[in-house]
Amino acid sequence: MSSLADQFHSAALDEQLASTFEARGLQAARVGDDDREGTRRWQDAVARGFLDGEPTEVQYTESFARNGYRRKVGVYDDGGVQADVPVATFASWGTELTLPGGSAIPMCAISAVTVAPTHRRRGILSTLMRGELRTAVSLGFPIAGLTVSESGIYGRFGFAPAVTATSWEISTRRTGWIGPVAPGRIDYVTREQGRDAATALYERVRLDTPGEITMPGGHWDRTFGTRPDVEKADKLRVVQYRSPSGEVEGVAIYSISEDDDDWAASTATVSRVVAGTDAAYAGLWRFLLSLDLVGTVRASELSVDEPLWWMIDNKRAARITSRDHHYLRVLDVPATLAARSYDVDDVIALEVSDPLEIAGGTFILSAGETPGVDVVDEPPLGVPVVRLGVAELSAILLGGVSPVTLARAGRIETDDPHRAARVFAATTTPRLSFWY
Ligand SMILES: CC(C)(COP(=O)(O)OP(=O)(O)OC[C@H]1O[C@@H](n2cnc3c(N)ncnc32)[C@H](O)[C@@H]1OP(=O)(O)O)[C@@H](O)C(=O)NCCC(=O)NCCS
Repeated sequence: MSSLADQFHSAALDEQLASTFEARGLQAARVGDDDREGTRRWQDAVARGFLDGEPTEVQYTESFARNGYRRKVGVYDDGGVQADVPVATFASWGTELTLPGGSAIPMCAISAVTVAPTHRRRGILSTLMRGELRTAVSLGFPIAGLTVSESGIYGRFGFAPAVTATSWEISTRRTGWIGPVAPGRIDYVTREQGRDAATALYERVRLDTPGEITMPGGHWDRTFGTRPDVEKADKLRVVQYRSPSGEVEGVAIYSISEDDDDWAASTATVSRVVAGTDAAYAGLWRFLLSLDLVGTVRASELSVDEPLWWMIDNKRAARITSRDHHYLRVLDVPATLAARSYDVDDVIALEVSDPLEIAGGTFILSAGETPGVDVVDEPPLGVPVVRLGVAELSAILLGGVSPVTLARAGRIETDDPHRAARVFAATTTPRLSFWY
């Protein structure tokens, strides 16, 4: 895995990508990991693209020190006044995505996608995306993924939301706890201790949850405010859950904002609960919902099927909103489908179309304990056929949506959606617990 990530990191730019930009009077280039000045200008462009202010010196320094794992591409316009500031940015890196059954496959993660308002809607993103995906495919990444600022951007490139996230706002005074009372103890710990515990715990729990990926460098320090560029780090409070035998099984981090009109109506915003056991999950959430002087608890990037829902006696005390969160894009159908597990033995044919002509074709999926995928010219007689785009295949990969639902929505065609649904069903609801 690391060698694939390394190869991708240092791979040359796709020739077609470079020549397409050249033909339009633009230059695409990779920003070198040691190029401090180039990285600053690239970061300027990312900040502007996401409507942030100019980065501070501390932000430049931290980003340079911590984001070396990212393959950074910039597109430059020599005719511009600030020609050293890219008019477009694109970052990607090799990571691992958990699939149903607990296996993990290499994934090309994409982030920091911006095109300057002066250069928008001229096909710059399209050229970058196609070129960088070609590079990822040529090196053997079976799948790509990203989290998005807007829903409407990436479907045309074959991405689809495979993981839905929920945001919760719980009115704690309106509900009681009916979940288990965990036998362990809760203690406050330092942010550094919390970060270290979360890092170790997450490495275990990510493989239990389809949709999670390896945590990108620097993310835990950002979450726990243990890097100098995190604002208001002093507001963060960290607790851990220890089992009766002394094992640290969970960590929660939150911050409080007070209500000046009512000191007993403060809001606790939970930035993360990492629980390695059900007891830790129950212990930490019970603690968070019973904080004195707090009337509201907020949390986001939870799954659509949280045990927490079954632990509060007044479900209407929780206002839950859902959002498309983790977008996936299958790049190699056989490699991806053969890597997940299936709870039924069955054979179905998939006719996959791909707008970028990367992963399309006809495939026979033999689901079961040892799955297999064959590439064929025609689906054999007697095997149910599912016709779908690569985006729809990516959407059903983790079991986050049923083929029955997509068939009813007119997004896939099949004579037997229930059979396809049984094949792709997963027993654990997918989740991605952060943005990247
Ligand atoms: C999103 C963004 C990168 C698009 O870049 P761009 O170079 O203008 O995109 P392209 O010109 O390649 O557009 C390709 C297609 O996507 C469509 N598209 C682009 N941005 C879109 C958006 N935000 N919503 C809906 N459609 C969009 C275009 O209309 C075009 O459609 P077409 O092929 O049917 O003509 C750019 O608008 C941007 O930087 N936005 C702010 C930062 C941001 O949100 N980045 C994404 C982070 S996940």
